[in-house]
Amino acid sequence: MSSEKVLVLNATGKVGKNVCIALREAGFDVFGTTRSQIDRLKGIGITPVICNYTDRQDLERVFEITGARKVLSITDYFGAARSNGDREIQHGNNAIDAAKKKGVDHFIFVSVVDAEYFNDHVRHIKTKLVIEDYLRQSGLPYSILRPAAFFENFDDPRNWNPLKKGAVKFLSEKKIKYCSTYDIGRAAAIMFKNPQIWLGKTLDVISWEGTLSDVAKALEKVGGVPVKARLAMPLLLRRILLKDLHNMFLYFESGGPKGTPDEFKKVLANALSAEDWFRFHGRYSNGDPI
Ligand SMILES: NC(=O)c1ccc[n+]([C@@H]2O[C@H](COP(=O)([O-])OP(=O)(O)OC[C@H]3O[C@@H](n4cnc5c(N)ncnc54)[C@H](OP(=O)(O)O)[C@@H]3O)[C@@H](O)[C@H]2O)c1
Repeated sequence: MSSEKVLVLNATGKVGKNVCIALREAGFDVFGTTRSQIDRLKGIGITPVICNYTDRQDLERVFEITGARKVLSITDYFGAARSNGDREIQHGNNAIDAAKKKGVDHFIFVSVVDAEYFNDHVRHIKTKLVIEDYLRQSGLPYSILRPAAFFENFDDPRNWNPLKKGAVKFLSEKKIKYCSTYDIGRAAAIMFKNPQIWLGKTLDVISWEGTLSDVAKALEKVGGVPVKARLAMPLLLRRILLKDLHNMFLYFESGGPKGTPDEFKKVLANALSAEDWFRFHGRYSNGDPI
């Protein structure tokens, strides 16, 4: 029924694309920012708006031209901020300032689960805490979504981990809490539709937990062929080469985050399991169906 406008910033990324799809399915008129990938957004039924989401003036312009009063913001430490924490914080704060100036009535920020509990080496998560605080102090009507590890990491060619038939790879074999970026979008739709419940609130997005071998079993069940679970790199190299991510995994591997799939399912009853996600994703990295 609803055709309210929602603007998704950074709409072509792993988070943005599936968030856009979920919001469109929930009945919103969805606009997504991109610097150039117009056809990619049109192809999924989203109205593309050319904008560099890291630039405050550009954001003010698209808030104006789209007339959207609901905005979902995603910042990106490794990509757009080029692994510079201060830069990512500036991107997040720019979006908040621009939204405030343009009278946005519901701003959702996509942060990370348990951001306060990671150690200080985990710079790409500590930045989210600073942006959350800025948002809380800003006076802008807001909600915060705090996702766990993405299932999308299992098919991530840009980070040298394409999903191939017969194998799943990841940087940890231990039991970890996951969610899909699609469920971030479904949770955002619930928040936008129920501001009386969700304004000023934070929600952990966690829909499943399991080891890498559980993930392999899930893919095996969906794909019907045997699947091997493998570490994407030896743990020693993970520690030496990927200090930020290594320290993030130490927290995930020690039982964190504190939230549970059951709690999230009180909000989104049919949140995706690993098996559900492979069905939803539907293809290997080379385009072949799973
Ligand atoms: N991976 C996980 O498990 C996980 C879990 C929880 C939270 N997170 C958080 O999710 C966030 C990453 O989101 P994501 O994976 O959706 O990001 P992403 O896929 O890397 O987003 C890439 C998009 O950012 C835009 N972009 C790239 N460089 C840019 C630049 N220099 N200037 C402006 N725009 C630029 C591009 O859009 P255009 O080219 O279309 O403009 C691109 O499509 C991170 O903050 C991470 O902390 C990740």
